[in-house]
Amino acid sequence: MLVDGIPYRTIWPEDGGATVRIIDQRHLPHDFVVAELKGLEDAARAIRDMAVRGAPLIGATAAWGVALHLATDPSDAGLARAVEVLVATRPTAVNLRWALARMQAALAPLPPGARAAAAREGARALCDEDVAQNAAIGDHGLPLIAAIAARKGGAPVNILTHCNAGWLATVDWGTATAPIYKAHAAGIPLHVWVDETRPRNQGAALTAWELGRAGVRHTLIVDNAGGHLMQRGQVDLVLVGTDRTTAAGDVANKIGTYLKALAARDCGVPFHVALPSPTIDWSLGDGLSGIPIEERPGEEVALVTGRTPAGTIAPVRITPETTPCANPAFDVTPARLITGLITERGIAPATRAGLAALFPERAGRA
Ligand code: MRU
Repeated sequence: MLVDGIPYRTIWPEDGGATVRIIDQRHLPHDFVVAELKGLEDAARAIRDMAVRGAPLIGATAAWGVALHLATDPSDAGLARAVEVLVATRPTAVNLRWALARMQAALAPLPPGARAAAAREGARALCDEDVAQNAAIGDHGLPLIAAIAARKGGAPVNILTHCNAGWLATVDWGTATAPIYKAHAAGIPLHVWVDETRPRNQGAALTAWELGRAGVRHTLIVDNAGGHLMQRGQVDLVLVGTDRTTAAGDVANKIGTYLKALAARDCGVPFHVALPSPTIDWSLGDGLSGIPIEERPGEEVALVTGRTPAGTIAPVRITPETTPCANPAFDVTPARLITGLITERGIAPATRAGLAALFPERAGRA
């Protein structure tokens, strides 16, 4: 994606992979800050503290975390430690576990002396694949938007999205935003309803920022407005991302996604989920009991962070000092509420058979 005319990915190596740069998303939308990761702890902290976030980008950062660590300790113990530290950073996005398993499988058989270079190549390849997968999701999702546009006789297609499943959540393109960016580039008139996505406001801070940069028309709404807009025919399509999708098509995504799916079903609005295949957890069928849901600090609910009139970034309390707050960060949308899963290989119905038809080599294997 272009930022002030400069093409960026969200994570990239410097000095041949001796260090890694990320966009520190905690400063957006107010400041565009590039941060440096020098080792395992930096990578783990970046994921844990959500300097980087979004399922595919969490996986990519973990892969680079392994590479950074093996540059100083390529031993078996070093590899095991990198995996152990990184896998514990966030629980819901399965891309993290997938990326680490892939790195470990490729590196463990190598002699220690060959591991650092191979890890850098592995992380680089994983990032490139993420970009290609998301671009392909865009190609497969574009006809959905084009068909709605044709039905509407050229009137703008209204798409509602939740959280940030955009460029910033991946290495490039985004998942839910890839079809949007491709449709926009194809000249299809579009308008995106952006859920603010309390408590961390990834929609307000990140999706609004990147759609604005890309010149895609959008309007920010509070999380509770979506059902109302759907009832009034002001949403043609709901398009979201996912942190973990089971082999049976149940979808974990940012808290509040389930309510959007319920409203969409009630209003007859198509509800699509965009995902690269590393987001599929082939070991799980039932998402409601099987997907670990991250519980985040209640402070995130009690405090809202923003720019003060003085220009500093500061949290402000919106609750009484002592109010207890609960903060489940994700929910599970059952497959029955999902119209389609947009993957890099095409659109599947949200069923075990649907996913298996697109990924026969993975189906039935954990
Ligand atoms: O807590 P976050 O910001 O990491 O949550 C991100 C989401 O829920 C995204 O929708 C999901 O990771 C899909 S990203 C392409």
